Amino acid sequence: MTKLLKLPGLIDVHVHLRDPGATQKEDFYTASRAALAGGVVGLVDMPNNPAPTINLKRLVVKKQAAKKSVCDYGFYFGANQENWKDFRKVFSQVFGLKIYMNHTTGPLLVEDLAVLQQHFKNWPQSKPILVHAEQDTLAKAIGLAACWDKWLHVCHLATSEELELVKKAKQKKIKVTCEVTPHHLFLTKDEVKTLGSLAVMRPPLQTRADLKSLWWGINKGIVDLIATDHAPHTLKEKQSSSPPNGIPGLETSLPLLLTALNENKITLKKLIELTSINPAKFLGLKSVKNSWVEVDLNKKWIIEQKNLQTKCGWSAFHGRKVIGKIERVFLRGKKVVENGKIIVKKGFGKPL
Ligand code: DOR
Ligand code: ZN
Ligand code: ZN
Repeated sequence: MTKLLKLPGLIDVHVHLRDPGATQKEDFYTASRAALAGGVVGLVDMPNNPAPTINLKRLVVKKQAAKKSVCDYGFYFGANQENWKDFRKVFSQVFGLKIYMNHTTGPLLVEDLAVLQQHFKNWPQSKPILVHAEQDTLAKAIGLAACWDKWLHVCHLATSEELELVKKAKQKKIKVTCEVTPHHLFLTKDEVKTLGSLAVMRPPLQTRADLKSLWWGINKGIVDLIATDHAPHTLKEKQSSSPPNGIPGLETSLPLLLTALNENKITLKKLIELTSINPAKFLGLKSVKNSWVEVDLNKKWIIEQKNLQTKCGWSAFHGRKVIGKIERVFLRGKKVVENGKIIVKKGFGKPL
């Protein structure tokens, strides 16, 4: 019998569940099944729904939708042009404030400096301000965090320039953490030729040199965690004349990382730190207690989209050969995945 390796359950701090409002793409049940299939026992949902999570009422509606979840879950609050006045009402119920400083999926966008200053001024220091801020915009976000002495979390760092900014900010003791996504670690803009509009995402896929600097940042301890930015859209939407940004990632992240482990691109210690220990710390948790993933490190297999749990039903990694397979997943002591089958009922998930 092959010896299985036991990893702590993964925690994904950056996921788009699409529920409510865009459940043709995904919902709490289907996304949380995809999460468990990928070894992710806890996730945090982003606020950029069609009716975004920008007030207490919307947060209550989202919490209700989340009751379908089979994995553990949490939420972020989304910044708009005026809602810093509501921070006190929601602060204890969310893991952070999300500010979209560039345009992407959904209606949330804050570019006005006066509004940004209000958000940075009013959001308490003890939880992160997460930003979608690409290139020059990231410099603006770091400047705001430094001036207002707040905890900035940089979502989906994708370029060597962005990595350098974060490295410098950390050296200057500005409170900055950052994440990278599997798609920026395993795909480059060369793949756009074969993937076409499926590869449309924000931030876009970058060069091989950028990809290499992200791996360097991982191994030098600049990158704090890996988050999927699971952003499902239907195939029909992706193949339309105006494809929306984003790709799914919950089920493919760990197999890709195990392959990287097999290829000595990352150590086992680092993999665990970036997918479980640091995400838990980021959320102010110890871990998702008594939760683990059993993997066969040597098993070779091919990612096939027909086997995915995500409602969108496709993957940019379809056809990719990987080494390392998830055999079983346990959440709070209960076996929830066996041989790729989800064996737990709707609603097993709990708030993180
Ligand atoms: O590609 C992306 N998709 N980037 C984002 O920032 C948002 C996400 C989405 O919600 O679809
Ligand atoms: Zn983003
Ligand atoms: Zn995102």
